[in-house]
Amino acid sequence: MPSHVETLRWIGAERGHLVLIDQTRLPVDLVELECRDVKSVWEAIKQLRVRGAPAIGIAGAYGIVLGTQPAASGNQQAFFARLQEVAAYLATSRPTAVNLFWALDRMKDAAAAHRGKDPSEIQAALFAEARAIHEEDRALCRAIGRYGAQLLQDKSGVLTHCNAGGLATSEYGTALSVFFTCQDQGKNLHVFVDETRPLLQGSRLTAWELARRGIDATLICDNMAGQVMREGKVQAVIVGADRIAANGDTANKIGTYSVAVLAAAHDIPFYVAAPSTTFDLSIASGDQIPIEERSREEITHGFGRQTAPDGIDVYNPAFDVTPARLIRSIITERGIIEPVSRATIAQTIGRPSAGRD
Ligand code: MRU
Repeated sequence: MPSHVETLRWIGAERGHLVLIDQTRLPVDLVELECRDVKSVWEAIKQLRVRGAPAIGIAGAYGIVLGTQPAASGNQQAFFARLQEVAAYLATSRPTAVNLFWALDRMKDAAAAHRGKDPSEIQAALFAEARAIHEEDRALCRAIGRYGAQLLQDKSGVLTHCNAGGLATSEYGTALSVFFTCQDQGKNLHVFVDETRPLLQGSRLTAWELARRGIDATLICDNMAGQVMREGKVQAVIVGADRIAANGDTANKIGTYSVAVLAAAHDIPFYVAAPSTTFDLSIASGDQIPIEERSREEITHGFGRQTAPDGIDVYNPAFDVTPARLIRSIITERGIIEPVSRATIAQTIGRPSAGRD
């Protein structure tokens, strides 16, 4: 069994189908789910069977391929109408991770570049584009790991929140890619894994990935992070991201902001590891990042058991925004952005869209 995971696989050519690890079944069962139409991809994203910003983007790209398959034998106008419909549908699955919208736009651009050709040829081009998005993500994650590993000393304690591992990407992760690369380089880390309420991506997924790789890890409940830092066990925090605004404000799994505040209080560097595909330079600050709200049952009936009284009011935002001032640096495949500012981000990632400050 390879130590890295294959989060998504495509079987066959452009008329083939998508297979993904059903992450809701981990850590107990490692089972795959076949997606043969766009509806099943939408459902897999919505239900977090596939999750994590880059993996959602890759799934979205393959979702476009599946959704346009039936239109490949029709006429050009019907093909483009179907493409728009499928992209709009996939865009309703989850709002926060910008990688989804980035991938959908890239797929639409790829189709537009082949306008005038036979729909079956456009369909083949869409398949090639989805493949490219998938393959490129592997390289981005490896590069993030190489840059990030420079920041960590041998025998450091590091803390991470949620899952920014292979399961959240094509295979190697962003924050976890840094840990895997350190391991490849012979550095021994000790990773504290936040459980990550309410859906436990830390305990179900990150702890599982680290165990498979033989990386020393200790699972803690989210509310223990402050105590572990106070005991001097954490020398750095590294998390992933779902959307980074032009000024560096970063949306990531709910609870990330609290960890960043705790890290600042203990003078511990707080790093974000993310590919360029997670930046949204069209928005000036984190205030404009749409934050997904999920169902009350995730809190009142987590994993099948009622843990709150009937009728209690519930608020369940799935993400929060960590202000740029709390982030020591952002580790990207293009290098390390430090200090985190509008200017340094523009320098490494690109210029914000016109009309925004
Ligand atoms: O709700 P999820 O599990 O999709 O949230 C995932 C995260 O918040 C990750 O940290 C983020 O997407 C980065 S993944 C490389």
